[in-house]
Parts: sequence; structure tokens; C-alpha cells
Amino acid sequence: MKTLRVTLPRQSYDIHIGRGLLSQTGEKLKELGFSRRAVIITNPAIGALYAAALRRGLESAGFEAVLLEVPEGEKYKTLSSAGFLYRALSRQGAERMTPVLALGGGVIGDLAGFVAATYMRGVPLVQVPTTLLAQVDSSTGGKVAVDQGRLKNIVGSFYQPSLVLADISTLKTLPGSEFNNGMAELIKHAIIRDKELFARLEGGLGLLRSMDGDFLEEVIYRSVGIKAGVVEKDERDMGLRNILNYGHTVGHALESVSGFAIKHGSGVAIGMVAATLISQRMGFLAADESDRVIRLIKNAGLPASHSLADSGKIMRALQQDKKRAGGRVRFILLRSIGEVFLSDQVDLSLVEEVVKELYA
Ligand SMILES: NC(=O)c1ccc[n+]([C@@H]2O[C@H](COP(=O)([O-])OP(=O)(O)OC[C@H]3O[C@@H](n4cnc5c(N)ncnc54)[C@H](O)[C@@H]3O)[C@@H](O)[C@H]2O)c1
Ligand SMILES: [Zn+2]
Repeated sequence: MKTLRVTLPRQSYDIHIGRGLLSQTGEKLKELGFSRRAVIITNPAIGALYAAALRRGLESAGFEAVLLEVPEGEKYKTLSSAGFLYRALSRQGAERMTPVLALGGGVIGDLAGFVAATYMRGVPLVQVPTTLLAQVDSSTGGKVAVDQGRLKNIVGSFYQPSLVLADISTLKTLPGSEFNNGMAELIKHAIIRDKELFARLEGGLGLLRSMDGDFLEEVIYRSVGIKAGVVEKDERDMGLRNILNYGHTVGHALESVSGFAIKHGSGVAIGMVAATLISQRMGFLAADESDRVIRLIKNAGLPASHSLADSGKIMRALQQDKKRAGGRVRFILLRSIGEVFLSDQVDLSLVEEVVKELYA
């Protein structure tokens, strides 16, 4: 097991990464001094796989565990699901020190986190991420939210967890497409902040693919550590946190134009290729470094091209983001592997050229 401490002005917390952590949850929670009744929020599929182990882990340390399930899927990341959970918490007698455990991927983490942030003005939140994306990204940083129709994450808050337990054994049951989704963000962290991790990934893709436990533990630890380091410096997303959006400008546009047929991780992977090419053509990034980034993305089994013929549509979707960013399209660009910067000086004709080139 590896442990990382996230240090924030109001709430600091540990992230534990390792195998078989579900069964140690009770012991870890005990140290934090919460009430002896804990509520697990999950969906039926994840619950069937892991709720029993988590429950045993809690009960062996003297906790009583209550299980609450919401249906699977982003379409249930809503205020209506939150309402159902508030009523269930109240029925179960949950009070201010009752910890809420979010057992699942980013959907459950965001929803249960939102509920924990708002029920009785805030109860302790424990993130138990079970997808690679949630382990390297969404469980850390304190962004919690629900959707409102097509408006993703539009109602939310910053609410840090009290503890994050990333049990990498749970990744064994994760479908390959979901693993890839998380891989895009894992690689993104290396590209923006950690040249060494990038090189480890270049050399260890076989180990990653075969889910070698030691390798996974090491690279997840380092990847989430990068996110945590950025969050420590910019908890409320006022500046530096922007760099976590590497590849997301074009990525979001592709996702949206495809009607979300392109998954987030795929959008980000193609978007990272686009941002890398843009960085190179604007003269910021050397060709050999650009080649390495694109090669790693491809070798990791992530897409580097899209099949959306209408580049005009993609450009219009990009402009929608622009409105939100105060009139200019913002890009995170690469100076070298491990070093990025924010630019609103990217020529849209260059973006369109690259987007067209990536059509295959
Ligand atoms: N809060 C943040 O900072 C942040 C960051 C990135 C993404 N997000 C949010 O995260 C969500 C996406 O999260 P995700 O990619 O983890 O997807 P997800 O939560 O939808 O999980 C993907 C699928 O895998 C299943 N699953 C989860 N763990 C499993 C396991 N161990 N074995 C088998 N199946 C398992 C889930 O039931 C689901 O069907 C989006 O709602 C996004 O907005 C939040
Ligand atoms: Zn992302």
C-alpha cells in the first residue's frame, strides 16, 4: 500500500492506494473518529461485486454498515437521485458524523459526494473509487456535482473527502473500455507534470496492460499525486487547476459533436494529440517530444484520430466553450513533456487544420 497526504487549509486527508483495501476500511475509518454507523452508496452492479467485502471490512472494525443503491449510469447523477438518498439517509437515522462511503466510479463519487456535501450541511465523505478514472482523477480534488438535463455537473460544490481508499484489486472486473478511459487521464497527468512518470509509462505499457499489481500501484500513486499537488495549490479552480484540462478543449468538442458516442477518455486522447500538434506547430514543442507523446497515446491503445467528417461542427462546439471562458478559446499547450502553460493565443485556423488532419 502507498499513502499520499493531501494538505489543504480546511481539510487534509490521506489517499491510500493498494490491493485488498476494502477489507481494511473499518480500521482506517476508526482512526478518524466518526460515528459507528456508516452508509455505503453504490449501484447494483458494483454493489454485487464489492459491497460485501466493504461491509465485512467495516463490520470487523465494529461499524454497522447500511447499503443504499441508485441505478447505474450518468443519467442517474441527478437531483432526483440525491433526493432519494437524502430521504434514505434520514430514514436510517444518519446524523452529522455518519460517514458516507462512495463505492464506485466517478458517477457514484460525484453523486454521493454531492449528497455528503449537502445532507445536514455536510457529513464525512469517504471515496472508495473502483474505476481507473476515479482512482487517478475524480475521487481526489473535492469537486462534487449532479447534472441537470444536458447540463453536466451544473449543480455542485467543492467538498473534500475525509479519506480516499483506492483498492486496485477492484480494477480486475473493470471493462477494457473503462480502463482505457482512465488511462487517458493517467497519461495526461504524466504529460503535464511528470517527465519521469511519462518515461515509466513508455517502458511499462505491457505491465500496465497485464495489470501488474506493483506497477499499477506505483503509476496510480504518482498520477493521482500529480492531481493532488495541483489541487493543493488551487483548491477552488481559480487558475492552476486549468492545466488538468490538457486535451480537453478539442476533447469536449469531439464528445459533444458525436452526441457523446465518443467516450470522455477517447475524446481526451484525441484532444491531447491535437494540443500536442498545435504546441509543436506554434514552435513551443520540439518534434521528437511531440512524437513521443503521440506514440505513447497510440501504444496505450487510445485513439489518436476521429471519424467526424464535419470539422465546421467541431469548431462551432469549440466556440461554445469559448463563451464560457470569456471570449477566447483556451488551450493548455506543451513546452516539453512535464511542462504546460495556458494560452488564449491559439489561431483557430491552426486548430481547424489539426482537427481535419486527425480525421481518419
Ligand atoms: N469530480 C471530478 O473531479 C471528476 C473528474 C472527472 C470525471 N468526473 C465524473 O466522473 C464520471 C465518470 O466516471 P467513470 O469514468 O468512473 O465512469 P462510471 O462511474 O460511469 O463507471 C463506469 C462503469 O463502470 C462500472 N464499474 C465501476 N467500477 C467497476 C468495477 N470495479 N468493475 C466493473 N464495473 C465497474 C460502473 O457501474 C459503470 O457502468 C462522470 O460523471 C464525470 O463527470 C468527475
Ligand atoms: Zn477529463
